Amino acid sequence: MSNVLTQLDIEPLKISDIPEAFRPQKNNFNQYLVDGELKTWKGKMVDVYSTIRTENESGEIVPTLLGSVPDMESEPALNALESARKAFDRGKGQWPTMRVRERLNCLKRFADKMKNHRNEVVRLLMWEIGKTLTDSEKEFDRTVDYIYDTIDAYKKLDQKSAKFEKEGGIHAHIRRSPLGVVLCLGPYNYPLNETFCLLIPAVIMGNTAVFKPAKHGVLLITPLLEAFKECFPPGVVNILFGRGRKIAQPIMKTGHVDVLALIGHSSSAVALQDEHPNKNRLRLVLGLEAKNPGVILPDADLDHTIKECISGTLSYNGQRCTALKVLYVHESIIDQFNNKFSEAVDGLKFGLPWEKDVFLTPLPEPNKPQYIKDLIEDATSKGGKVVNKKGGQISVNYTYPAVICPVNDTMNLYHEEQFGPVIPIIPYKDINEPLNAMAASDYGQQVSLFGRDVRKIGPLIDILANLVCRVNLNSACQRGPDVYPFTGRKNSAVSTLSVFDALRSFSIRTFVASKDNPYNNEILESLLNSNESNFVSSDYIL
Ligand code: G3H
Repeated sequence: MSNVLTQLDIEPLKISDIPEAFRPQKNNFNQYLVDGELKTWKGKMVDVYSTIRTENESGEIVPTLLGSVPDMESEPALNALESARKAFDRGKGQWPTMRVRERLNCLKRFADKMKNHRNEVVRLLMWEIGKTLTDSEKEFDRTVDYIYDTIDAYKKLDQKSAKFEKEGGIHAHIRRSPLGVVLCLGPYNYPLNETFCLLIPAVIMGNTAVFKPAKHGVLLITPLLEAFKECFPPGVVNILFGRGRKIAQPIMKTGHVDVLALIGHSSSAVALQDEHPNKNRLRLVLGLEAKNPGVILPDADLDHTIKECISGTLSYNGQRCTALKVLYVHESIIDQFNNKFSEAVDGLKFGLPWEKDVFLTPLPEPNKPQYIKDLIEDATSKGGKVVNKKGGQISVNYTYPAVICPVNDTMNLYHEEQFGPVIPIIPYKDINEPLNAMAASDYGQQVSLFGRDVRKIGPLIDILANLVCRVNLNSACQRGPDVYPFTGRKNSAVSTLSVFDALRSFSIRTFVASKDNPYNNEILESLLNSNESNFVSSDYIL
């Protein structure tokens, strides 16, 4: 048992010691994509550093310089918005009126080209955001699969629409239509996957987009700009680099954004909505923060539960919106749970993302280790104890996961979404304690329920299903598989994402209606046979 913060030893790292395939390759990228052109940015650039420290020419161990990207100003950002507006052209543009099969072809070409950049993107995921090699590869592959799956899902959706219905003497041809211009902002923890989970369904449905990567995980987008340029008509996808303050805010202020698609913190989402002068025009597709609890019942299989709680709390160092961010453990098993769980946490390997069996890796946000340390100190000053031996050991880019028990509502750790390696444990006597805490929480994404007795679990599921949007039974919380609905209650989300649901979130049902009479029917029939309309079409995409 220790509640003292000590130094976590790290070896000085020379670039030459790193396997060649994983060495960083400096990339000063001064381009951006607007109106189908890769333009050269001549203004200020901003350096991109990795918190993985290496030896520089003077022999000092410093954050590794990976390259630089444009620090763009509001004017080019507004030009990008204009380009997206022009491409949508109030619904008249080539992209929103194009036949679905042609749009799908563009997406397919893009996914095929994207695959050629796997190694570069995976290497940058490791250096920019410290994700392990396995998880970086998974993120890349999952994203490519997501594009192909989205294409298939849209085909199915379109197949269902390739017909006329008749109700109450009115023929109706119902399809899903785009909404307009989408501002797309992704998070740093899944800079490729979560951004593309917004961008791809948005554009496939016929919207046009302006996209800006998050603060970390920026360079890894750069190898894909050329593919975006080659595969989409001008203005459909516009990509900018820089700070939200100079880019996203001025864009929102114009009132010309139809959809704000953001995965990140609700404070950013609210601040951006506040900029928009026409609130009812603005649709929201938001994936926000959460404080998913794990509720461990007295009869839970401990070995299994601990395995799931390790992956739930600490995969990617807890930097997942779906991470288990608080564990409620029944008081009858608390000592046993804490001992086993602490041992498992202390057995996790901290190291560099490409090292074998590494599970814990440097945190990409330079101020995160201090933030985690502050949470630990606040909790321990109010009666919490660090129950694992290595808990809270700190280095310049990491804080070893601290398991803290007992945690209560006087502590910051109870309320804040820690999004990092510290695990609050709350012993409970009565199941109403976690249920009441969940009901009072501002969040409502998912829960993990660990137990065996169906007489206990059954009624609990019925309540939990009304507090969150996914009840994981004896399983860690997670977003995937991507075909399942990903959403949340309260401050955790607005609208639903999944391969299928995202297509709905980025579109609206529109239809052509015509009273059933010989005059109208003749016109409808010749319309269908003529190929004059891409909307009124019985074209069936196989
Ligand atoms: O950051 C939140 C992500 O959506 C979590 O996704 O459960 O696949 O890690 P994941």
